[in-house]
Amino acid sequence: MEKVRLNNGLSIPYLGTGTNTYGKENNDYNGELNGDFSALISAINMGYRLIDTAISYRNEAGVGETVKDSGIAREDFFLTTKIPNTDEYVKDKETVRQTIEQSLTNLQTDYIDLYLLHRPIDDEEKQKGAWEVLEEYVGKGKIKSIGVSNFTISDIKKLEQYATIKPAINQIESNSSGWNNDLVKYLLKEDIRPQAWGPMKVSDEHQDVLSKIGESYGKNWAQVILRYQTQRGIIVIPKSHNPENQKANLESQDFLLSEEHMRQIDQL
Ligand SMILES: NC(=O)c1ccc[n+]([C@@H]2O[C@H](COP(=O)([O-])OP(=O)(O)OC[C@H]3O[C@@H](n4cnc5c(N)ncnc54)[C@H](OP(=O)(O)O)[C@@H]3O)[C@@H](O)[C@H]2O)c1
Repeated sequence: MEKVRLNNGLSIPYLGTGTNTYGKENNDYNGELNGDFSALISAINMGYRLIDTAISYRNEAGVGETVKDSGIAREDFFLTTKIPNTDEYVKDKETVRQTIEQSLTNLQTDYIDLYLLHRPIDDEEKQKGAWEVLEEYVGKGKIKSIGVSNFTISDIKKLEQYATIKPAINQIESNSSGWNNDLVKYLLKEDIRPQAWGPMKVSDEHQDVLSKIGESYGKNWAQVILRYQTQRGIIVIPKSHNPENQKANLESQDFLLSEEHMRQIDQL
């Protein structure tokens, strides 16, 4: 899998798997935890190494166990998790430290590759405290990269007033219902790598256009949209419970879209 360098010199795969419904009844985000990580096992066996979880998905521990049980070396994986913006996790610096320690325990690891603020924290002082603790953990070597999610340009500018480590990534929604282009351009210019969540949320109408484009390359609509994103510098973390779709998504990176097709997709 092709990798991209982050602003701290570390590398991350361009494509990984989301996990927000893994380990849950009916593959439902709010479903009861049922310990069924077969979709993640399938993804790992297929070659996925970038895995995106979050405290609010309630499945960090199951993700950690599945990664460990795979028998694949820890350093071959790139594990991302995220801290929620609520007081329970970010009330003060000590609470943030406890939250990170719990993530490390849940994920059964000595270090986390990427730790994100899941959303901006309304109280600026609390956000500053949380960011400072993330920086502290980078210093300790227990977190390799830190970043943000769902941050606007103005949120990033505020954070940069006190951050001594620049966010490596901003994980944002980007799909054909809204590419978030202004933000994407800003992030690329600032060397903060954009990462797209919800990359497969594509209307039937858009799927038809993407399928047509895919015919020239022997690729389906999903592969075309994933390639479009990575070809313009955006990391993608599609999530699937279906091994065939997981395989198709993994095979989205072995072709190049023409400039004309890139323009056409951008106009969707
Ligand atoms: N930072 C944030 O605030 C935030 C918010 C939302 C999500 N996320 C992260 O981003 C990840 C991805 O987002 P998401 O899970 O919401 O949505 P997504 O990956 O865009 O879409 C998932 C849906 O796409 C389908 N799908 C996947 N590959 C396909 C393919 N090749 N062909 C046809 N359908 C396909 C899946 O169905 P099948 O299972 O049937 O394949 C599933 O229903 C999450 O799992 C989570 O890790 C982060």
